[in-house]
Amino acid sequence: MKNKTKKWWENNAKMFQKVHKVPIDISYGPGMPNEDKLKLMGNLKRKRVLEIGCGGAQCGISFAKKGAKVIGIDISEEQLKYAKKLAEKNKVKIQLLQGDIVTLPKIKSISQDIVFSSWALLYVSDLKKCFKEVYRVLKKEGVFVFSTHHPFWETLDKKSMKVKRCYFDSGRCREAYKVGVFEWHRHTISELVNALTNVGFIIERMEEPDYRKKDRYTSKEVILEVYRRKAMRLIPRTIIFKARKR
Ligand SMILES: C[S@@+](CC[C@H](N)C(=O)[O-])C[C@H]1O[C@@H](n2cnc3c(N)ncnc32)[C@H](O)[C@@H]1O
Repeated sequence: MKNKTKKWWENNAKMFQKVHKVPIDISYGPGMPNEDKLKLMGNLKRKRVLEIGCGGAQCGISFAKKGAKVIGIDISEEQLKYAKKLAEKNKVKIQLLQGDIVTLPKIKSISQDIVFSSWALLYVSDLKKCFKEVYRVLKKEGVFVFSTHHPFWETLDKKSMKVKRCYFDSGRCREAYKVGVFEWHRHTISELVNALTNVGFIIERMEEPDYRKKDRYTSKEVILEVYRRKAMRLIPRTIIFKARKR
């Protein structure tokens, strides 16, 4: 899975950045409220932030602009090349590392105030292993904030609006596109919650942003097709967690 994911992102990073036009923002995903609206992390000045699955580092750059000391990790060299150029263009310094977010060997234990991730954990099959590493690198009382696919979203066929997949049937998902086969992992809510609590996290907040509230839209919604927007008014597309190290 890891190698397939890497290959996909090496081949499609340029297309992703061109099509999605991800804004420089601490963003939780397409059509979702951003950090300025959700306020999950408070004052970021001088905070040490590790972004896992940073992609083009639009979130990382925004953290840095708010005064944080940022490390971004991604598996894809192409995404990191884009991130490096974008950070230079925005005149901010962030440390960019190539690596797998399931193991974080280059990150010292108890070194980070915040670990953040926007839409990258859907590529991780072994959540517990990944969360154990996140727990290790966080300082005491440090927070882990992430957004990922809402598992309900995957159960529904967005055009017919009928249930196409059993909710309980978690695991690998595949979709064939012109540019290749895209694979990701679907985790149920209990799998996400239990993976967090099993490694020691306390869950402080869970958000399922309501797409019907227009004031909550972000510029990311520009890429959403009409049928997806319709579906997003019925079921949540994104799930967001804030968890704290004991
Ligand atoms: C949908 S993009 C999101 C990027 C960024 N967070 C954003 O909001 O634009 C997912 C990113 O996760 C990265 N990724 C996927 N699996 C990974 C893994 N096992 N280790 C590190 N990065 C991974 C991909 O290379 C890609 O850049």
